[in-house]
Amino acid sequence: MWNRALSIAFATLATILGMFCVLFLSNPLRFASGKQLADHFLADHPVVDQFHKLYYDNPETWSTRWLGLETLQNPNDVWMIQEIICEVRPDLIIEAGTRAGGSAAIWAMVLQQVNPNGRVITIDIKDYVPSEARDLPIIKEKVDFLLGSSTDPKIVDEIRRRTEGKKVLVILDSDHSKNHVLNEMIAYGPMVTKGSYMIVQDTNINGHPVLPDFGPGPWEALDEYLPKNEQFQPDKSRERLMFTMHPRGFLRRIE
Ligand SMILES: C[S@@+](CC[C@H](N)C(=O)[O-])C[C@H]1O[C@@H](n2cnc3c(N)ncnc32)[C@H](O)[C@@H]1O
Repeated sequence: MWNRALSIAFATLATILGMFCVLFLSNPLRFASGKQLADHFLADHPVVDQFHKLYYDNPETWSTRWLGLETLQNPNDVWMIQEIICEVRPDLIIEAGTRAGGSAAIWAMVLQQVNPNGRVITIDIKDYVPSEARDLPIIKEKVDFLLGSSTDPKIVDEIRRRTEGKKVLVILDSDHSKNHVLNEMIAYGPMVTKGSYMIVQDTNINGHPVLPDFGPGPWEALDEYLPKNEQFQPDKSRERLMFTMHPRGFLRRIE
């Protein structure tokens, strides 16, 4: 009787173990945790890279709108910047690169919920902002537009004056050439408060293996800026949604 019970138990165990081995061998990732899966795909890149290229090359993905306003942002990155704004609760968000004002409207809406006195200053060399944007209540209440180059010393001085004593977050999304981005980082980096961020957008232009090479851009600007500015550290945790247009671009000010 005991022998029979033992045999049944052994046979059951062997069957379960056998099934587990078959399932595991047919797909070793079947039992991986989400974190292990992310590490696996990030290590090998194929799926994320292919999606990145598919997304980037498809003109229809560039037609995203916020409250009807053209907004040149990757939705994944908007989510991540929303998280950063909620954590940092800045008094001021400085955005270089306004375009139609869609992204400024997003940052202002998030900021209003976590710091009702917070404001967004957005700079562009050209005025593309349509009247529908200027008439939006959130833009009327919370957004200041500056017209001029983000690296013009007069604009930089004016912004420096407005940031005094404030908790500041910076988002760079204007001219994406290397020298311009480098000059922006040099001008605006000192205004970023400890614990806050300078988000250097579109580092994927050359920082990504499958995208076309547009010549030196934000990625190369970081190559030059980061070794001399160790107070800024790329926060890789902000890339955890895997598909980001700003690899290495979420710079956290640590001191
Ligand atoms: C990528 S778009 C900004 C998109 C916007 N942040 C959004 O998400 O919808 C870049 C903008 O930077 C502006 N720009 C180009 N050179 C600039 C400069 N030197 N200073 C400020 N803005 C500049 C362009 O006119 C353009 O509107």
